[in-house]
Amino acid sequence: MAKGSLSSGAIDPTALEAESLQAIGAATSTEALDEVEATLLGKRSALATAHRRLGQLDPETRRSAGRELNDLRARLEAVIAERRAGLRADERSAVLEADRLDLSEVVLEGLRTPLRRGHRHLVTSTRDALEDVFVAMGFTVAEGPEAETDWYNFEALNIPPAHPARGMYDSFYLDVGEPETVVLRTHTSPVQIRLMEAAVAAGSIPIHSVMPGRCYRRDTADASHLPVFHQVEGVVVDRGLTFADLAGTIETFTAAYFGPEVHSRLRPAYFPFTEPSAEYDITCTICLGAGCRTCSGTGWLELGGCGMVDPAVFDAAGIDPLEWSGFAFGFGIDRCAQMRHEVADLRNLLESDVRFLRQF
Ligand code: PHE
Repeated sequence: MAKGSLSSGAIDPTALEAESLQAIGAATSTEALDEVEATLLGKRSALATAHRRLGQLDPETRRSAGRELNDLRARLEAVIAERRAGLRADERSAVLEADRLDLSEVVLEGLRTPLRRGHRHLVTSTRDALEDVFVAMGFTVAEGPEAETDWYNFEALNIPPAHPARGMYDSFYLDVGEPETVVLRTHTSPVQIRLMEAAVAAGSIPIHSVMPGRCYRRDTADASHLPVFHQVEGVVVDRGLTFADLAGTIETFTAAYFGPEVHSRLRPAYFPFTEPSAEYDITCTICLGAGCRTCSGTGWLELGGCGMVDPAVFDAAGIDPLEWSGFAFGFGIDRCAQMRHEVADLRNLLESDVRFLRQF
């Protein structure tokens, strides 16, 4: 039976297919395509009507006509699906295009404003300058962790549990492991122990190192105290060192960093990890020793502590105190910045106010 056998019925399939394809191609949105689909394939479409009328045909004609109608429907469905996918993609990219933020104006505006070149924070540049001075004096630079064990921060430094010296350090403890076993280091002195242990293991004593870094104490911030501050530690381990080596090193550093008119002074003090120990003062940088409000009329400003390494510390680190001697010192980096640049209030160093920071 030839194609077109349905022309004797209600429709001419060839013409219907051509018309349908044209209608599908003419639909320019998914919405329009939905309507075209309903017209071409819906219940009241010519195709559905022809299908319903198949019953009126004789059995043999009915079979081939039925197959013809089904094939036509399948072809149209495929063409519609393909057209719908294409239209949907077009519509989606149109939406994206409409939503896209045009940033070119913002970028251009930014480029019209001249960029100011940034620079290192005052604390960082101070730390770098201190390192430079010490490196020039023959020291190497080392670092240690900020979260320390009780052993390194206290015990190995000759501060056993319940030692009254722990009162000097209001500590922040971390909530890990046993209570009060991990502490945010209260000073950089624990790095001394780490360096000594490493040098013992590597057989590389003598040691001449400085160790800068961040420290933490449970202090309320005021003009001269911060709960987070920076220290630089120094340790020298060698044969036959005396207090004169310590004093000479401190004086050389002081003049090199603060200028030839600024000197150092060592006053007797107590630290559990040095013996003898001293407080390290420098000439007041404001009045150069004449006496002023900043130095309470004394002409001196306190910068840190120092002393000869206590034999108990050498023991803890596995170094023979009869063979080796050592000295150590530690002082505030923020304090150095404050004194060299006349910063009235240390809290300015934490506040990230560019109007303050830009000056340095
Ligand atoms: N760690 C001491 C402090 O922070 C300073 C110090 C370092 C003293 C080295 C002696 C030797 O108070």
